[in-house]
Amino acid sequence: MKQSGIGTPPGLHVGMIMDGNGRWAVARGRARVAGHRVGAKVVRSIVEAAPDLGIDVLTLYAFSADNWKRPSREVAALMRLFRAYLAAETARCVQNGVRVSIIGRRDRLPPVLLRAIDAAEAATADCGRLLLRIAIDYSAREAIIGAAMLGCRCGTREEFSALIAQATHSLPTREVDLLIRTGGEQRLSDFLLWECAYAELMFETCLWPDFDVDRLGQALWEFRQRDRRFGGLPQAAAG
Ligand code: FPP
Repeated sequence: MKQSGIGTPPGLHVGMIMDGNGRWAVARGRARVAGHRVGAKVVRSIVEAAPDLGIDVLTLYAFSADNWKRPSREVAALMRLFRAYLAAETARCVQNGVRVSIIGRRDRLPPVLLRAIDAAEAATADCGRLLLRIAIDYSAREAIIGAAMLGCRCGTREEFSALIAQATHSLPTREVDLLIRTGGEQRLSDFLLWECAYAELMFETCLWPDFDVDRLGQALWEFRQRDRRFGGLPQAAAG
């Protein structure tokens, strides 16, 4: 990813667990997949707004390795939705300087989706305004195990981080600053466990299809009020 200009602080890495699509749809008497479709529109608006809100890495949890347990119709609909999203949004991502990177296992994805992933990643490879990472068939524990199994005798934690990135087809990136989960549940669900070691966590009660740019702006405002100490002391007490 391109570096920020001299003197420009790096942007934030925000992770999002986009929960609540199913409940949103069922509450309206619609099929769960209708919630996922509305959820995809919310993704689009968040991606467009992210760079102006000071975000330069955005990681979205679209499909966990455990989501294969869902009914095959819902899984198939989600795979089609991811493909359609990539096909529809790639040109816009290029225009807006958004580099697309899919993280997670690839060997279980449908070939048609794999082709869309390859095309989106290739077309946006030179974009540097926002790194959009979409986690599909992703498990943080598997990523950590995968890195360990790469036989590492890593001298540094940076080397181990790089192996985790390799295990999830990921570009090397920074740790998460802020993790937002919608849908009212308060858990991490095997998402970015390594990268979230010092992330600020925010749990929103609203369902993902009701999430919007204003709510993201509010979350970022709240994030900036927090005192991040990384195990150290508050500034005033540090002397
Ligand atoms: C979890 O909500 C959501 C998912 C498993 C799918 C997330 C997908 C999207 C937001 C849409 C498309 C995304 C992209 C990147 C194009 P849930 O279905 O478990 O909700 P529930 O808890 O209400 O059942």
